[in-house]
Amino acid sequence: MKRLFTGLQPSGTLHIGNYFGALKPFVDVYEDYESHIMVADLHALTSLRDPQALRQNIIDVVKDYIGVGIDTEKAILFKQSDVQEHTELAWIFECLVTVPFLSQAHAYKDKVAKGIEANAGLFNYPMLMASDILLYDTDIVPVGEDQRQHIEYAREAVTKFNNAYGETFVAPQEMILKGVGIIPGTDGQKMSKSYKNTIPLFGTKDEITKAVMSIVTDSSGERPENVYAIHKLFRTESELDTLYTENAGKYKNLKDALVEDIEAMVAPMRERRDSVSDADVVTILKKWSEKAREQASKKMSVVREKIGIAL
Ligand code: TYM
Repeated sequence: MKRLFTGLQPSGTLHIGNYFGALKPFVDVYEDYESHIMVADLHALTSLRDPQALRQNIIDVVKDYIGVGIDTEKAILFKQSDVQEHTELAWIFECLVTVPFLSQAHAYKDKVAKGIEANAGLFNYPMLMASDILLYDTDIVPVGEDQRQHIEYAREAVTKFNNAYGETFVAPQEMILKGVGIIPGTDGQKMSKSYKNTIPLFGTKDEITKAVMSIVTDSSGERPENVYAIHKLFRTESELDTLYTENAGKYKNLKDALVEDIEAMVAPMRERRDSVSDADVVTILKKWSEKAREQASKKMSVVREKIGIAL
């Protein structure tokens, strides 16, 4: 069975960009593979310094996965920090790639350009992500378009390592949901927790309404493009054409319709999510972290041997 791996940072509330960019395609295919789902808590440390919030976010993200339809009997759902081999392997990759190479990473450059602190963790981020993926001999990585380059970086880590030490790692392929690409936020740029332009997936109806009403509309064009770009995730183009023609210029009506469409999709998921307790989450993570650790430690024994640190 081929192996699939994906990850999500517990750095805030899940938004519809995460859902359509990564979770939905993942839910659609994960049962066809041996699937790993990782809570990227160490990656979250690049931007989050509130222990209580981090703890809560970890719990929440697992509930989110279950809410969107992941069966925790069928996927290895674990926490990155429970498997120390991830940071160990990241260090080894960092010793193989160059500073100019890492400084070309879009995610890093975009954040720096927006004035977000460029800590060394953020800079090395792609190599920790490479180790997440490569430790499990992953074949396929379902992610949003924004993560495409990170998968290329993981392939570069494979090449660098295999060239230096011999065939050890498998080159992974990204799987990006067709037609979705980068989902815009309420201000039209990429929907992202760090840009504060998100529409929450599991928010209450009031929270979803508030976010939708804050979508920036530009009256110069024929239709409010920022609203339309999000709306097309929920309805076919022909349905939208009718709706947007009938409501030309009536932005409030269009936003109301978008709220209703989001709510119709989210309500059953919210119900499933609410049925999971914090204690359930702890049990699930404990069980699967043991399994992941077992797999990762096997791979690291090979790596340690190859690089010459196993005596
Ligand atoms: P993160 O937590 O930022 O996002 C989780 C997933 O959601 C997708 N996504 C989007 N897709 C389309 N449009 C958007 N606006 C949007 N926002 C988020 C992301 O592409 C991602 O798939 N580095 C990763 C976490 C990670 C990971 C991994 C992923 C760590 N290790 C190994 C895959 C494999 C990240 O920050 O995702």
